[in-house]
Formats: sequence, C-alpha cells, structure tokens
Amino acid sequence: MKFHIVILLLFVLGVLRASGADKLSKNFYKQRCRQAETLVRDITWGRAQNDSRLGAKLLRVHYHDCFVRGCDASILLDTVGTNAAAEKDARPNLSLLGYEVIDEIKSQLEKVCPGVVSCSDILALAARDAVSFPFKKEMWDVLTGRRDGRTSLSSEVTGNIPGASSNFTTLKDLFAKKGLNVNDLVALSGAHTIGVAHCGPFSRRLYNFTGKGDTDPSLDETYAASLKSQCPNPASAAITVEMDPQSSESFDNDYFTTVKQNKGLFQSDAALITDRAAAKIVDSLLKPKSFFSEFGKSMKNMGAVEVLTGSAGEIRKNCRIVNALFSVLSSTNEILEKVSVKVPGEETYAKEDYTISLGKKLMLKLLYTIYYFTIGVAHCCGPFSRRLYNFTGKGDTNPSLDESYAASLKSQCPNPASVAITVEMDPQSSESFDTDYFTRVKQNKGLFQSDAALITDRAATKIVDLLLIKKSIIYILRLMFSSIIFPIYVMYGPQPY
Ligand SMILES: *[C@@H]1O[C@H](CO)[C@@H](O)[C@H](O)[C@H]1NC(C)=O
Ligand SMILES: *[C@@H]1O[C@H](CO)[C@@H](O)[C@H](O)[C@H]1NC(C)=O
Ligand SMILES: *[C@@H]1O[C@H](CO)[C@@H](O)[C@H](O)[C@H]1NC(C)=O
Ligand SMILES: *[C@@H]1O[C@H](CO)[C@@H](O)[C@H](O)[C@H]1NC(C)=O
Repeated sequence: MKFHIVILLLFVLGVLRASGADKLSKNFYKQRCRQAETLVRDITWGRAQNDSRLGAKLLRVHYHDCFVRGCDASILLDTVGTNAAAEKDARPNLSLLGYEVIDEIKSQLEKVCPGVVSCSDILALAARDAVSFPFKKEMWDVLTGRRDGRTSLSSEVTGNIPGASSNFTTLKDLFAKKGLNVNDLVALSGAHTIGVAHCGPFSRRLYNFTGKGDTDPSLDETYAASLKSQCPNPASAAITVEMDPQSSESFDNDYFTTVKQNKGLFQSDAALITDRAAAKIVDSLLKPKSFFSEFGKSMKNMGAVEVLTGSAGEIRKNCRIVNALFSVLSSTNEILEKVSVKVPGEETYAKEDYTISLGKKLMLKLLYTIYYFTIGVAHCCGPFSRRLYNFTGKGDTNPSLDESYAASLKSQCPNPASVAITVEMDPQSSESFDTDYFTRVKQNKGLFQSDAALITDRAATKIVDLLLIKKSIIYILRLMFSSIIFPIYVMYGPQPY
C-alpha cells in the first residue's frame, strides 16, 4: 500500500512538474507573429553589443519574475497611483536593470503584431538572447505561449525569492515551492557566473558574521581579504564587485570552480557545498558541456513556473501597465492631443500646461484613482468596517451611509472584518469606465469615508453634480486636468488601503 502511495506521489509530482512546460510550446508565435523571435534577438543583440552586463541583468529580472506569481511579467509592472507597491519596488537594493530593453522590444513588436506577443515571453527570450550574444547562437531553447498577469505586489517578494544569506535548506525549500529541484537550484546558481553585486548583501560575511566582528570561516581567507579591500565597512551602495572574479563577463562554468574553492560570494553560493547531493551536482557541472546543457534544462523548468496560458491573464500592450489602465491612458493621450481643455469659468489650458505641470506620473496617478473608483475593484472589509459597526465608538453606523446599502455591506462583511472577504466597489458597472461612482456618492453609497467626504464640501459637491450631468469620460478628463478638480483629489483622494 505504502509503495503504491509513493508511486502515485511520484507520478503526481512528475505531472505537476511537467505541467507548466506542457502548456508552452516551441515557436508559439510562428503563425501569429512570424518575426517575433528574430525581432527580440536583433534588438537584444544590438543592446548587448554596448552593454556587456545585459545578460546578467535580464537573467536576474526573468528569475525574479518567475519566482513571484510565476513567469507572468509581474516584475515589469510599475507601481501606479494609490495602488500597492509593485514587485519591482519591493527592495530598492535589488537594483534590477534592463527594463528599458524590454520596453523597446515591446514597442517594436506592437508595431508589427499588435497585442500578440506577451511581455513574459519577451522577457524569457531576451534573457536567453542577451546571454547568448557572445556565442552568436541560442544557448538554450525558450518555449513560448505565456500570458501576462495583472497583479504585482511588493509584499509577495519576501518569502518567495531566496536571499543572499539563505542556507541550503531555505534555498531548497523555496525552489521546491516552485516545482524546481536541487538540480535546478545548483544549475541556476550558475547564473552567478556573470554580473556584479553590491557589497551590502555579503558585508556581514566579511565583517560581522556572528555578531562578534568576525568573518565567515567558510570563506577563503585571501578571497575574504581581497573582498574587504574592495568593500570597506560599512558597505557603500556605490561599490560593486564581480560575482565571478576574472570572468564575470563571460557565461561559463567558472562559478562552480570558485564555489568549490570556497570563493562563492554569497552565503547562498557557499551553501551549495554544505549539502552532499548538491555538492555532487556542483562537481558534475565542472565540465563545461554539462553546465550548458543542465543550465538550459533548468531555465526551461524555471521558465514554466506557474505560467498563465490559454485565456488566463492578458497580452499587455505596454509591459509597465495592465491593459485596462493602458486603454484609459491612451484614450486620454488621444483626447489631450485633440481637445484644448476648457472648463466653465476657467482659463483654457494648453496641452503643454498640464503635461509639464502635472507630469506623466501624476497623470497616471489621477487616472488610476478614477479607474479604481469606477471599475469594480474588490476591497476587503477592514477599511470601512468601523463605518458599519462602531462609527463613533458606540457600536453605531455612520449616519451618512445609505441605510439599505449599509445593511447590504453588513451582510457581506461581518464584524470583525475578515481579510478574506472582499466587496466590489461598483457592483453594477464593473468593467466599464463611467461616472456611476458619482451617482453612488450622491446616493450616500460611497464605500469609504473619503468617498462620502466629496459631498461634505460645497465646491466639491458642485463638481460631483456636474459630473452627473455630463456623463462623459472626456468631461472628467477635462476637469481632472484643470485646476479645479486637482486640489480636490489631493485633499480627498483615496489613501492607500
Ligand atoms: C552604444 O553606446 C554609444 C555610447 O554610449 C552610443 O553612442 C551608441 O548609440 C550605442 N549603440 C547602440 C547600438 O546602442
Ligand atoms: C536555515 O535558515 C532558516 C531561516 O533563516 C532557519 O530557520 C534554519 O534553521 C536554517 N537551517 C540550518 C540547517 O541552518
Ligand atoms: C540598501 O541601500 C541603502 C541605501 O543605499 C543602504 O543604506 C542599505 O544598507 C542597503 N541594504 C542592503 C541590505 O544592502
Ligand atoms: C555586529 O553585530 C552585532 C550584533 O548584530 C552588533 O551589535 C554590532 O554593532 C555589530 N558590529 C559592527 C561593527 O557592525
């Protein structure tokens, strides 16, 4: 019986491991966008010619993408407006680079095959091509057919991505969570054969390993001395050192030699020879041919982690923002091109005025605010739970909230609030960019106090009324970029929740 369970388990695990890769295929874009892979390669090689570190940069971005929410290009999304911080802002010191190359490829691909090639596939291909540039051939196969996610949260980074000081158990566990085994762990660590690192992540190893001003005894002494001379204590963010001394620009298996010589830069490198099975794999990768083939296999495994395929996710039009926001943004840009903004009782604002004075970031922030209001984004009960159950501390409900709406909210959100429950902000008109939000605010059905606050001010109420009459996105946009509504958003705009 036990034997059967083991067999069954092995079978299930085998299937699970293969499932991601099974959903992807070789040359997925052959019919849909014939030139896709060539175009990615040409642009990447063009950039790699000038930037010898591009391979290291894009490999890192791809790896960070796959380990958080799978390879869905979530790492490429920018933090926008009041939305929670995106993955790429998780740790400022991560210093992931190379995003602009992906942007360039995407904008070229959108010209020839609009809406076809996903950002996640571009990233997987470009990482391969950048590393492959010096060899003038593809160093591993990249399967394609990934689709892009719509969510990116900095809070999901910790706990998914191994740190520089992770021990072997942690490394193994984090890889296992992604369906990757010890072979993959060791082979992919070989990526440290290229690139540079800031001193911070290994500074403790040099100067204060156990808190007694000591150096990690597992680090080769002369190497430690050389690292100390490059990286004074405390670590400066301005200094970088080569990960694989002498050959940090060439993609080779030197990394494993240095790890064997106790010259792995991070604790997570040294950790590979603290486990017998892993140390054996390190030995096997001392042969260059084995390294290239094993690295390729493991890249294929990693590239298939939790991929979105079929109708899941979307094909982003711009790798930095989700499509819903992109369409609002591009219609805004179009409108801004054509319309000179005239607000009743106000001056006419030339296009340059708001683009310069507000700037693109602010524009995005404002748009995202409205996007959040009008499109039914779900929110957990916490932020308005007091309004329902204990408004003035006497177990009362906020009297400014419509009674039947309050009752309906109470039935959805029991007290105390559970983070697991969410309600939609605009249940009747999800997915449509409209002015229903303002109707609801007028009916005392704004979800948050900050929504209800809009009609506690006379000037703001007048604008809400205007927005009710002119049910037009153009009108909102005109107002948004005028000086009237902007201060209102600054004063009453939603706080990050
Ligand atoms: C390479 O870099 C030089 C100097 O920064 C620049 O002038 C040139 O346009 C770059 N070439 C490419 C292909 O990016
Ligand atoms: C590895 O690190 C984790 C997390 O820091 C720790 O809980 C665990 O005890 C360590 N394992 C070993 C074998 O040192
Ligand atoms: C991150 O960067 C900041 C500022 O550059 C620095 O003070 C801090 O020590 C760095 N942290 C690590 C872990 O490198
Ligand atoms: C070394 O670490 C200990 C404990 O974390 C700390 O109290 C001490 O200040 C550190 N010393 C230096 C020189 O950073």
